[in-house]
Amino acid sequence: MHSHIIILKIIHIFAGVFWVGFAFFNIAFLQPAVKATGVEGQKLMQFLVRNTRLMMTVYITATLTILSGLGLYWPLAGSTSSFVRTGYGLILTISSTAGIIAWIIAVFVIRNIFNQMGALGTEIQSQEGPPSEGQMSGLQRLGAKLGVVGNIVIFFMVIALLGMSTARYSHF
Ligand code: HEM
Repeated sequence: MHSHIIILKIIHIFAGVFWVGFAFFNIAFLQPAVKATGVEGQKLMQFLVRNTRLMMTVYITATLTILSGLGLYWPLAGSTSSFVRTGYGLILTISSTAGIIAWIIAVFVIRNIFNQMGALGTEIQSQEGPPSEGQMSGLQRLGAKLGVVGNIVIFFMVIALLGMSTARYSHF
């Protein structure tokens, strides 16, 4: 194995672990906790989105996962279509596509939801007094949307992970 393949694989797995790990944590624990703790939870969410590098870090690691994945895929697939006629190639191609779909949803749909949450949070912080009912229900609506879209992303991530970790052991 060439050393650049090993480096790509290390980047791929580290970045993938961070990105997918955060996605699982977010959907399974963080969002339910934010929802259950009302105004306090929203405060924590606002802080995370606006005052930390969390979002940037997630998008960078997500993108690194995809780019290093493409770097691993290309030399295996070569320039012919015969690769997808092997079980290894087919499973790897399906799981790579699932990973790319997860990335597209994360970067275009989820980022948009987080941005809307951030904008509403800025509005709330810059006004006097607590958030209005309309603002709170807006935040809750965005949270619910995040839950639905988040589950769809998790589904594609699971397909990517299952396929990628098993493809090379395919017997057909
Ligand atoms: C959700 C996104 C992804 C996750 C969590 C993920 C995870 C993984 C993991 C854990 C491995 C190691 C498997 C092993 O060595 O046994 C792997 C390998 C690999 N991944 Fe991904 N990956 C993702 C996206 C992608 C994408 C988008 C591509 C290609 C465009 C890709 C291409 C590959 C390739 C070619 C391998 C090497 C497979 C082998 O050597 O048998 N991955 N991936």
